[in-house]
Amino acid sequence: MSWWIWTLVGIGVVVVAVALYDITQKRHAILRNFPVIGHLRYALESIGPELRQYIVTDNDEERPFSRDQRRWVYASAKGDNKYFGFGTDNRFDEAGYPFFHHDPFPIDSDAGDEIACAKTLGAWRNREHAFRPPSIIGISAMSFGSLSSAAITALNRGAGLAGCLHNTGEGGISNHHRNGGDLVFQLGTGYFGARDAHGEFSIDAMLASMETAPVRAIELKLSQGAKPGIGGVLPGAKVTPEIAAARGVEVGVTVRSPARHRAFDDVAGLVEFVESIAAASGLPVGIKSAVGNAAFWDELAEHMAATGRGPDYVAVDGGEGGTGAAPLIFSDHVALPFRQAFPIVRRAFETHGLGDQIVFFGAGKLGFASDAALAMAMGVDMIGVAREAMLAIGCIQAQECHSGHCPTGVATQNKWLVRGLDPTDKAARVNGYIRSLRNDLLTLAHAMGHEHPSSISLDQITITDGNGGIVPASAVLG
Ligand SMILES: Cc1cc2nc3c(=O)[nH]c(=O)nc-3n(C[C@H](O)[C@H](O)[C@H](O)COP(=O)(O)O)c2cc1C
Repeated sequence: MSWWIWTLVGIGVVVVAVALYDITQKRHAILRNFPVIGHLRYALESIGPELRQYIVTDNDEERPFSRDQRRWVYASAKGDNKYFGFGTDNRFDEAGYPFFHHDPFPIDSDAGDEIACAKTLGAWRNREHAFRPPSIIGISAMSFGSLSSAAITALNRGAGLAGCLHNTGEGGISNHHRNGGDLVFQLGTGYFGARDAHGEFSIDAMLASMETAPVRAIELKLSQGAKPGIGGVLPGAKVTPEIAAARGVEVGVTVRSPARHRAFDDVAGLVEFVESIAAASGLPVGIKSAVGNAAFWDELAEHMAATGRGPDYVAVDGGEGGTGAAPLIFSDHVALPFRQAFPIVRRAFETHGLGDQIVFFGAGKLGFASDAALAMAMGVDMIGVAREAMLAIGCIQAQECHSGHCPTGVATQNKWLVRGLDPTDKAARVNGYIRSLRNDLLTLAHAMGHEHPSSISLDQITITDGNGGIVPASAVLG
């Protein structure tokens, strides 16, 4: 044989060897799913900063999460060096950019990475299983169905390692939720995992779902920031036997989540519903909602103050929140962003004397120390992270959650793509990310003279006004 045939054979052998290695290794989902060709992504990524610096975008331009933010999550998740060199490359000309006031005499001790919630969940209503969440960071609701089985396993196992709560989302409880992480069982308008044969809410079905699962709290979802006021459809093709079992629906049959709850019609009915599931389970019960109509919050707080009954916690989701799929008009224009939304809710409860009783959860791009600290200064007790946790398990912000073609196996049910995501490796990354976020938050609190980030106040933060000036954060976000 001539030399060029040997060269071709040699190249072929190398390609096959690389392909075999790619398919069997577990660190990189992209390579497992796209053997050989997947290396192109890493090659381009490695020279990306140089290319982008001259041609495309800078480190803070991309949305929803900038390259700097994603780099920080990836480095934190992998336990790599999460520091940035040479100083900030941020411009301070956008309105709302926060500056935290350091203390001249900061706390000089190792911050560590454990931060328990300052409040006890369920204390106000004296629930049988009230508890103090050991981590102020929790994994926000994302259902099995919108995320893959491997992603749910990784998140749940990672939550167990990090000692944080894992919200099931509205798709019920599956076996993938039984990997060590404590759960918040979310009930959406479809009552998945808690419905009878006609799709109506059933307390017996709810209790049966929770029987063998480590559920610590129940969350009633009124709405979410990315698509408030509308329901959802899960096409029959996506209703696999596993998903059907978790949701309590028929395999292969399209299921619809209505736009609103059928179990109650008004504030009094909502409070009654919350109390009935709390009484049946003994667990703290919260509600999750995006914020539009301020009058609703005032009415709810007034009713709760008058009756001494109602949810133990309120989770506020900002309009900038994520979703598996939503109409653009809803993601872009319906519901207030977190910074405008949360003060409406907090003020309503404070006005009616319940500000200290209610535990406030917040979500909406809060998975970075600066945003989490600002939210805590605004009065948030618990931070929920959804897409940041997706980044930690390998999401590359391809924004393909709605198409079923997520290349990293996170938000898809495609078996080949899901196979690329190794839950054990990615669980360690969830743990790394959550611990790194807690460590940054605590380090910031120490620099500001506090032992716990919930002691940070808005008076210790200044924000830009967008016109080249600065204003006290308390004047805008209080
Ligand atoms: C893929 C995906 C699925 C989601 N599913 C739910 C859900 O089932 N229930 C819910 O209340 N919120 C859901 N959310 C919203 C998140 O729980 C969270 O409130 C929102 O994304 C804001 O947090 P983030 O900015 O950290 O992503 C989902 C978000 C994503 C990205």
